[in-house]
Formats: sequence, C-alpha cells, structure tokens
Amino acid sequence: MTFDVYGIEKWGKKFFQVLDNGNLGLLNPLKIKNEPIDLTKIVKKLNQKLSPPYIIRVSDYLEFMINEINENFNKSIKTIGYKNKFKSVYPIKVNQQSQVIKNVVKYSKKFNSGLEVGSKAELLIALSQNLTKNALIVCNGTKDEEFVKLSLLSNKLDIKTVLVIESLRELDLIIKISNLLKIKPLLGIRIKLTNLISGKWSQSSGDRSAFGLPVDKITEALTKLKKNQLLECLILQHSHLGSQVPDIIEIRKYTQEACRFFIEIINYGAPLKYIDLGGGLGVDYTGENKSKFHSVNYSMEEYCINIVETLKLEFDKAKTNHPVIITESGRATVAPSSILVFNILDTTIFDVKSCPKLNKKDHTYLSFMMQILNYINKDRIQECFNDLNYYRDELRILFRNGQINLSEISKIEKTYLFVLNRIKKFVEEKKLNSNPVASKLKNLADIYHGNFSLFQSLPDMWAIDQLHPIAPIQKLNLKPKKHVILNDITCDSDGMISKFVLNDGIKDTLPIHEVKKNEEYYLGVFFVGAYQETLGDLHNLFGDTNISTVKLEENGKFKIVHEQIGDKISQVLSYVEYSSSEVLKIFSEKTTKFYKNNSISSKEKNQLLKNFKASIDGYTYFEN
Ligand SMILES: Cc1ncc(COP(=O)(O)O)c(C=O)c1O
Repeated sequence: MTFDVYGIEKWGKKFFQVLDNGNLGLLNPLKIKNEPIDLTKIVKKLNQKLSPPYIIRVSDYLEFMINEINENFNKSIKTIGYKNKFKSVYPIKVNQQSQVIKNVVKYSKKFNSGLEVGSKAELLIALSQNLTKNALIVCNGTKDEEFVKLSLLSNKLDIKTVLVIESLRELDLIIKISNLLKIKPLLGIRIKLTNLISGKWSQSSGDRSAFGLPVDKITEALTKLKKNQLLECLILQHSHLGSQVPDIIEIRKYTQEACRFFIEIINYGAPLKYIDLGGGLGVDYTGENKSKFHSVNYSMEEYCINIVETLKLEFDKAKTNHPVIITESGRATVAPSSILVFNILDTTIFDVKSCPKLNKKDHTYLSFMMQILNYINKDRIQECFNDLNYYRDELRILFRNGQINLSEISKIEKTYLFVLNRIKKFVEEKKLNSNPVASKLKNLADIYHGNFSLFQSLPDMWAIDQLHPIAPIQKLNLKPKKHVILNDITCDSDGMISKFVLNDGIKDTLPIHEVKKNEEYYLGVFFVGAYQETLGDLHNLFGDTNISTVKLEENGKFKIVHEQIGDKISQVLSYVEYSSSEVLKIFSEKTTKFYKNNSISSKEKNQLLKNFKASIDGYTYFEN
C-alpha cells in the first residue's frame, strides 16, 4: 500500500513511481516497459565513495525531454500543414555545466539543434561543441568588440553564429567590425513585444522590458542596415516573453504579435528565414495543470500546436512564406533531469508528549497553565491560547529577573509546549482551520535539519519562492505521521523551507516519517535541473555538491556514467580570496609556537595539523 501524500502521481507521472518496497522508483520514459530503478540503490552506490548531498542527473530524462520538444513540434507541423521546419536552440544559461551541455548536444544532434548564448563565456562553450553544420548559435546579450569579432570569425569555420541586434549601439559596433574584417554577418534582431505575460518573469515582457528594440528603434535599425548594405544579412527575428509562462493564451497572443513584426520586417525587404520565439515553455512543478506561477495550464503538445497553428494562420493571411520555427526552451529541457538528494541530520521536536509532574513548590501560574486543558473547547480556543501565552510570558519575566531558576523555567517551557500541542491537536481534530489560532500554531511544526544549502542548491526557493516538489525516497508505503518544516545546514534563519507541494495542494508543512537515531533518511527535491546549479551561492562557504550522472538500464539496473566531486574546502576558500597553502602555513606556525612553549605535545601538534589538512581537502557539507 502506498500513501501518495506528496502528489508523486501528479507532478512526477512520467518519471517517478513508488515501488512495492516503498522506495522511490525512477521510470524510464524512453523505455516505458523497463522496470523502474530504485533511487535508494543509486544513493547507496554513491555512498560507497562519496557523501550526500548529491545532485543526481538522469541522462535519460534529458534525452526524453529533448525528444518531446522536437517530436511534438514536428508532429504539429505535419498535422497542421506548416511548410517549414522546427529547430530547437538550448539556452546555455539555464544549465551551463559541461556534462549537461555535452548531453544536450549529443541528444539533440539528430534534430540539428543549436545553442543560445548570452555572454562571451557562454559563446566559448558553444563554439567548442560539435554541433551539426545546420545548427545555429544564437548570440543574445550585450556584446562588446571581442564578442562580435569572435562571432563573425567563427562563421569562417562553417559555424552558423547569428548576432542578434539588441540595441542600436550594438548595431553600430557590428557594422564597424564586419567592415573591418570584411565578413558579412548573420544577423538577428531582437524585438520588444507589447504583450505582457503573467507569472514571475512578467518584467521580461511588455513595454517596460529591458530587452529588445521597441518599434521606433526597429525601423531605425532597418534603415541603418539598408544604408550599410547589410539588410540581406538579417535572417532571424528574436523575441522572448519570459520564463515559466503559466497560460497558453499568453503564448498564442505573443506568437501572433511576433508574426506581425516578422511580416512587416519582410515587407521592408529583409530576407528573414527564422522566427525565434525564445523560451517560456513552463514546467508543472505542482502537477496542478493550472495557470499559476508553479504550474502551467497546458501540455507540451498543446504548446507546440498553439504556436504552429498561430504561425500558419498569420503567415497564410499575409501570404508570407513560412519561416523555420525556433524556440529556446531551457527550463522544460533540463529541469526534470536533476534531483537533489540529501540526508536528514537532526530533528528539533516541539511535540512534547508527556507533561512534567507539578509539585507544591511550583509557581501558581504553572498550575494555571495545566488547568487550561480543562476548558479547551471550540468557543474558548482563542482564550486558551491567550491564557497560555500570558502565563508563560509572565514566568519568563520572573526568570529574567532572577526569581526562578533554570530547572524551573525548563519545566515551564515543557509544560507550555505540552499544553500548546494539546490545543493544536484539538484545532486539527475539529478542523478549525479558519480560526486565527490555527495560523499561529503553524510555527509549532517540528524542524528536520537537512544536509544541504538552500542558497547553493535551491537558490530560487530562497530568492523568489519557487516551489519544487520534495518527497522522501524511502518508506513511501508507510503513512508519515509527523509534519515538519525543513532547515538547511547554513547558520541562517532564511535557510528554511516552509512551503510544500503535496497531493492536496500547497501546504506549510511536509508530512514525514519519524527518523530514528542513526537511521539514514533521505529526501529528494525534484525538477532542479534548470537555473539552480549556477545561480547558487556560497553562503557559509557550502560549495557545489557531489554530482553524478546516471543512465537507466534494463532489469532495475543503472550505470553511473559520470561523477563530479563537489567543491573541496580549499576550492571554496580560494573563491573568497584565501590561499589554502597560506592558511595552512599560518596555522602550522601557530601550532609550532605552542609546541615550542611546551603548551602542546608533539602528538597534539601532529593531530592538529593532520585534522586541518584533512579538512582543507574535505567536502564542505556534513560527512559521516
Ligand atoms: C533569451 C532567452 N532565451 C531563452 C530563455 C530560457 O527560457 P525558459 O526558462 O523559459 O526555458 C531565457 C531565459 O529567461 C532567455 O532570456
């Protein structure tokens, strides 16, 4: 029997399944008949050499998503009778890690897919990949002379590098350098659409968006191109409406507006061949299938059909040849393929099951606290809560004034929690969710401390309240009895997770099993492949986690195809301007001084140095 309190069947339906033994299974969406692979077995295997936390990248999921995007567009093109092709372009910024890019290029080769870059560093990554001859490298972002030069020169190597004009200043630079090098550029123009999208990234769209040329500047750019005999180089129109677009209607409206610009630019005389619609294809993190920030109200199939249908209608109406369709879906391509797995290190339990025995010496208020238990009822719940807090606060004042001692205040705090838990239980049993006390009691959830850094591994959860599904990877056949919030390993009160995707909606606590002493209990955070790996920071100097790329095989087997050891302490020290050899030297001189003073023995000196050196070479996270 399984208890899908986590909604795994909703958000994870193509990728995850609870196994009979209660562990989480990884399905292979490329080979649906294959036996699911037990995720705990992968973790056990990794534990033989490394320590959690891990990012586990499932290469089959990446391949599947690349196939899905390309095949759905190709199918829509065929069904709708669109007279040109689809080409995907992967935006490197969404996950730049070398193993990810290597696999993106490998799996998308058969579709002649390209890459999108937004900086010089990303351009270098793109130019060093073995793309097919027909693949494009689309260069967005602000470009300096070096960026423009390298892009232009790369065309000599049979690489189709398209410089997307982001501003008139940039166009002047492109004209100057292409004249200097005598190389005709492949040009794109980034247009600013007026349609405003909803969701978290709405500022990427509409009049106030920072990107793209507004109408008046487009006409200026076209005039300038014509004057410099470069209009014939303008082959691509680019626009991007923002990431994680929740509503399919917005995608339709936006595509329609992009078409109008495309048709007008063609009418002006530019030989546009490609319509690049940027990113926007969202991920249904909650599995709700709704137009909400963490969800989307459309499927991949619908997304493709809506775009192709809109394009065909508009271009046919204007009697314009159908251009090649490009999209730059990064989030949808990589999000599903990475899972963060971490272990629970400790628990802070606020649920006091037994009440301390009172005696005559105890303060009267303590017995008043206990008497509250006699009048807990529906109509007096607020009164009970007020009384309990009043007595506890008064007793805390007495402690601060030295009128009661440590063991007395400890008994008071325990009694407080005991009574408060009884009030909470009553509120839950009677389902008094709308009672103001209910919201105040939320803070009473126990805390599970996890071996991960929110800032390093889940930065969007911290910064923009992004939701990722979280679930245990074992015991899914046992009903979770506790409700907790999660705390990370950093010493920061912000390192908390207190919003969870569950089967019955978004909740403030995570149902979880009791974790016994010395028990290894793991949680998985899902769909973390997009943006999280490089946006993360080094708060408290917790660095990159260990990473492993896994390939799913037949008969419940798997292969670890690549392992990337996480940051060592020496590495994170170097990011903040420390040389580990210098740090070691200073520490070593200090121990020698104490040894010479006879303050420490030779054995102690050696022990100190041995431990210091081991830490320098060690993992930044908690190790067993
Ligand atoms: C120009 C451009 N293309 C593509 C993307 C990726 O979009 P998505 O996150 O929707 O895949 C972005 C990200 O915002 C972008 O700025």
